[in-house]
Amino acid sequence: WWISMTLTLTLRGHVGFDSLPDQLVSKSVSQGFCFNILCVGETGIGKSSLMNTLFNTTFENEEVNHFQNTVYLRHRTYNLQESNVDLKLTIVDTVGFGDQVNKEESYKPIVDYIDTQFEHFLQEELKIKRSLHNYHDTRIHICLYFISPTGHSLKSLDLVTMKKLDSKVNLIPLIAKADTISKCELQKFKIKIMSELVSNGVQIYQFPTDDEAVTEINSTMNAHMPFAVVGSCEEVKVGNKLVRARQYPWGVVQENESHCDFVKLREMLIRVNMEDLREQTHTRHYELYRRCKLEEMGFKDTDTDTQPFSLHDIYVAKRKEFLAELQRSEEDMRQMFVNKVKETEAELKERERELHERFEQLKRVHQEEKRSLEQKRHELEEEMNSFSRRKVAAEALQAHMLQSSITHTIKKDKDKRK
Ligand code: GTP
Ligand code: MG
Repeated sequence: WWISMTLTLTLRGHVGFDSLPDQLVSKSVSQGFCFNILCVGETGIGKSSLMNTLFNTTFENEEVNHFQNTVYLRHRTYNLQESNVDLKLTIVDTVGFGDQVNKEESYKPIVDYIDTQFEHFLQEELKIKRSLHNYHDTRIHICLYFISPTGHSLKSLDLVTMKKLDSKVNLIPLIAKADTISKCELQKFKIKIMSELVSNGVQIYQFPTDDEAVTEINSTMNAHMPFAVVGSCEEVKVGNKLVRARQYPWGVVQENESHCDFVKLREMLIRVNMEDLREQTHTRHYELYRRCKLEEMGFKDTDTDTQPFSLHDIYVAKRKEFLAELQRSEEDMRQMFVNKVKETEAELKERERELHERFEQLKRVHQEEKRSLEQKRHELEEEMNSFSRRKVAAEALQAHMLQSSITHTIKKDKDKRK
């Protein structure tokens, strides 16, 4: 139907579309940026302190107790401004992570949270009237996973959780409270962690090395992973400068001390790779979620005859499938209802039979009792009759005896008078 052709031409003068990058920059600056950080780590491992140190402010210092029945996520959004750039920053952190006796399901709320943010974005994209330009994107751009500074090895909770997260989010492992571990131990611990991550197939985020401007710094930094960090909410005067640091009886541990990678983390996360993190979230992790979700919903790019997919055909097929499913479940429900009625009917019949049997039995008992009472009455009547007969005979005998006694007395009196 149409012929397409691409040609390369040379312009004869300045047209002006070389200002496109500047136009993009000013548009982005006026729109502002959003960045969402997820901190995963045990209670009290230093999540809030690190966030405060990272952005050199005080977000919150609310402590969580260790008695949570389940893990849940808490998120807060802040509007920050630096020069003329607005940053809408969302910090999400885990509450109660690692506090349950059974930690098998601890990763689930985290995975669910990440998926829910993807789902919200997908729903917005699928709307007829989309408003993506002013949509508050809550998708997680970076997940900082805090590892306890044990110097030993990773816990199974760490490995399981990181494995579940690595395909959903840009994952950066951190060794927390790095001031509590010696320099030599730290190096060994880092090597151990990396080898365990590799042997368990956990994919962590790699700073991009394809852009020449950052190739060197990013490849050096990739070799430093996992970063060892120190967080602090206190400001300590060092020389005549106020710095965030931890003051101990033996000295001050500063965020920029040589054995801590805090500065590297801030450089990498905020100053060099924030845009890559946002891009990777959209092009890799969200894309994967979107693909799986759309495939689950029955969408596919090409059918068996490699024809471009038709939204209408998919809709019709889905509708047919849905109606068939509806009919099936209606039929199932009807069958269930019929079975239930039959069951109740049988139950009632059985109950009626039982009642009838009971009635017959009671009737039999009653008749038996009636018969025995009848018999007793008959016997008593017999007894009464015989008693009356005996009474009559006794009375007659008594009268007769009285008569003969009187006659005898009179005769005796007569004889005396003579
Ligand atoms: P919840 O939100 O309650 O789970 O804790 P959290 O992970 O946010 O930890 P938080 O930042 O509140 O720090 C807990 C304790 O650890 C506080 O006493 C901090 O001072 C201390 N802490 C934080 N970061 C570090 C660190 O880098 N080194 C050392 N030694 N202590 C730290
Ligand atoms: Mg906290």
